[in-house]
Parts: sequence; structure tokens; C-alpha cells
Amino acid sequence: MKKVYIETMGCQMNKSDTERMFGMLSNFGYSETTEPKTADLLMVNTCSIRQLSEDKAFSLIGLWGKWKKQKPNLKIGFCGCVAQQKANEIFKRAPYVDFVLGTHKIYSLPEIIKKVNAGEKVCECEETNKTEDKKASEFHINRVKSVNAWIPITEGCNNFCTYCIVPYTRGRERSRAPETILKEVKDALNAGFKEVTLLGQNVDSYGKDFKDKKYRLADLLKDVNAIEGKFRIRFVTSYPTDITDELIQTVLELDKVCEYFHIPMQSGDSDVLKAMNRRYNREQYFGIANKIRKMIPDVTITSDFIAGFPGETEEQFQHTLSAMEELCLDYSNTAAYSPREKTVAARWTDKFIDEKTKHERLARLNEQNRKCCLASNKKFVGKTMEVLIENFESHKGKNVITGRTRNNKIVHIPYDKDLTGEFVNAKITGCKTWYLNGEI
Ligand code: SAH
Ligand code: SF4
Ligand code: F3S
Repeated sequence: MKKVYIETMGCQMNKSDTERMFGMLSNFGYSETTEPKTADLLMVNTCSIRQLSEDKAFSLIGLWGKWKKQKPNLKIGFCGCVAQQKANEIFKRAPYVDFVLGTHKIYSLPEIIKKVNAGEKVCECEETNKTEDKKASEFHINRVKSVNAWIPITEGCNNFCTYCIVPYTRGRERSRAPETILKEVKDALNAGFKEVTLLGQNVDSYGKDFKDKKYRLADLLKDVNAIEGKFRIRFVTSYPTDITDELIQTVLELDKVCEYFHIPMQSGDSDVLKAMNRRYNREQYFGIANKIRKMIPDVTITSDFIAGFPGETEEQFQHTLSAMEELCLDYSNTAAYSPREKTVAARWTDKFIDEKTKHERLARLNEQNRKCCLASNKKFVGKTMEVLIENFESHKGKNVITGRTRNNKIVHIPYDKDLTGEFVNAKITGCKTWYLNGEI
């Protein structure tokens, strides 16, 4: 049996692709290893959302290239979003790479491996505007052992926000067939998973490209909810103005769908939002977030923000801080703006914010985020909440089980038995910035 190691960078979409690649490779006599040094095949599944993530991928394969000098039979694969974007260029920069595999044709991996083992160099970065549902059904998925399974429902994005590279690395938006999704959900549940997260760059767009039927996210949620058994359903990521009243109502009504929305706002300033090509302004985002809060008790809303977008003034930045605060957002991912090749905003070099200011703004954003998280956590102290246990740890003689509430809060509970995969009702006794404390 040969050994394969895959290093996964970036978002859940990449994590999901990696699980599929492991599945395909296991058909071809490769077993998974967590020790890169012992592998016969090394692969990196790259992310290009920011320059830093791209740089990390190149420095990693640089190291692997050195190992290859001692181990000439070692094969190296460069996959994912940076691969899709740079294709053949990768070989120029890293001649020791054996194959480059973009995001569109991951199901070509078995063919690629055959060729690579015969001594060929392969680059498969062709774009497609179709889903690969049929191919997906031919292979099993080696899911990471956990309680939550990631299930992609759409691939790609049509939004072209001016800072974002995803439409270039993942292509146009395509919805996977409901039958494929429902089968993957059922397989995951049969394998013991207790939660499924439906995944897409913009899940509310699900089904917009079906010509023969009207079947949207709310319909899919109803069909997944109808599957028997005790499990949870989540969906990410939502685009603010695409969240319909029907969707909110559906989340409220379906027992398995959790009270949780991830709705990136990106900036709290309407002019910056316009420059970002986001299709909403500050007031509209507030309107949607407040409506969700009003309709769904105990709902949490998390977000993403970018600090230092080209041209962002101090006053505009303060609008982002105040939005976070006024909306009492439960958690936010934050990042300093990073110019990306091909994107519109990357051309506005005369408006770039200097690194120092950008990072100083990011630090203030993080400080506000910490305050919001703590305030959000405090709201739940004293309540009894359902927790799905994900982990058991013994540390310095203390045993702790950790899990998540329906609204995605992390809870630590002192307990002596490993209850991973079980649902418990916990009384929330206290909290810190990033988690709740509970007891059962
Ligand atoms: N589809 C999701 C986000 C996908 S990318 C959405 O529409 O919100 C994940 C996050 O990375 C984005 O929400 C954004 O906050 C951040 N991001 C994207 N491009 C970036 C860039 N060039 N610089 C800094 N952060 C970026
Ligand atoms: Fe990127 Fe915008 Fe698409 Fe999200 S919606 S993936 S931020 S282009
Ligand atoms: Fe995801 Fe990074 Fe690609 S965030 S879609 S892996 S650019």
C-alpha cells in the first residue's frame, strides 16, 4: 500500500474536496498518512483568498521539493485554488511538482495518478460550467472523523465582489442536483455523523440555475429535514440580500435546521460596500439582521469583515466598528485587505491603504469582535441548551467534554465520560470571550 499525505489550506470547500480526493486515492491503493515524511505522494490543496495563504503553499512545496532530492520516487501534487489560477506557471516556479490539479476537475485525479506514476507531468486546470455529480457518485468520500459532515450544494460564485478571487478560482455558480446532495447526506448519517452543513459560496442562490424545476434552498432544507433520525442541519454562507422571508420562516419551522446564520457584511459603510460591488448598503444589512433576530429566538449571526479596503477612510472604518457593535454580531472573521490578481480592486493601487494603518485597523476590529463575542455569550448564561458533543479531553486530571449549541456556541462541560456524538442538555453556568461553560 502506498501512502498519501494531503495538506489542506483554506475554506470548507477545500476540506470537502480533500475528503473526496482521499476517497478516490483509496480506490487506487493509497492509504492516508498524517506523517508527510513517510508519504509516497504529497499533495497540497491550496487557497488563494489572501497573499499570505498563497505564500504558505509555495513555502510548503519548497520544503517538499528538498525531500524529493533524497527520495526521487516521491510524487508531489499542487491542487486547489492557487492551482486553478496559475496552472502551468506552477511548473516554472516549482519544477519538482509532478501534477497541478485545479478545482474544477478533481475527479480526474485517478487518471492523473496513473500518468504521474508512469513518469508524466500533468496539468488539469480546465474550467467547466457543469457540476460533476455523476462522477461524484462513483467514488466514496473519506470524511474526516468528526460529528459534522460538509456537503457542498453549490460550487463557484457569480458575484464578483471587487476584492475577491473566488469567482476566478471556482468558476461560475453551479447547483448540485438535489438527489446527489440527499444521497450524500444519507450516507453521512448512516456513517454516524450527527450534523450536516450544506456548503456554498452563496447558499441562497441554490437552484437558480435549474431550468427544469423550481427548487431552492428552502425546498432542499425541507427534504433534508424529512430524513429520519436525530441530527442537525446547518448551511453557510448566506448573502445578505438573498435571504428571503421564506428562508427565515423555513429555518424557524424545521426542527433540525439550527438557529444560526453566517452573513458576511464586509464593511459597515455604504460607500465602501458599493466599491466592493456588494449589492446592499448598511441599512439593508441592518434590516435583514434585525428581521432574523426578531423572527428567530436565540438566533446567532456571524459575519466577515475586511479592514483597509482601498480608499477606506478612518470615518468609513469607524462605520464598520459601529455596525459590529450596534448589530451585536455574535462572532466575526476579520482580515486585512489583500490585493488579488485579476480582481478589480487590485488595480486601484493609488487608493491602497498602507500596511501599518491596515493592521492597526484590523487590531481595532479584533478588539470590537472580542467585546461582541463576550456580550453575546453573556446572553446565554443561566439558560439550558442542547449541546452536540464533539470532543473529550483529559487535561491535568480534569476531564472535559466540548460541543456546540444549535446556535453554534462552543460549550465546555466538566464530565468524566467521552460523550462524543451525543446530544446533552447543559445548564450554562458562565462564559469567556470564545466559549460558554456548562454543566450536566
Ligand atoms: N462567499 C462568501 C465569502 C468567501 S471568501 C461571501 O460572499 O461572503 C471568505 C472571506 O474572505 C470573505 O468573506 C472576505 O471577508 C475575505 N476575503 C475575500 N477576499 C479578500 C481579500 N482580497 N482580502 C482580504 N480578505 C478577503
Ligand atoms: Fe467572493 Fe463575493 Fe463570491 Fe463571496 S460573494 S465568494 S466574497 S465574490
Ligand atoms: Fe476557499 Fe480559499 Fe479557494 S477560501 S474557495 S480555498 S481561495
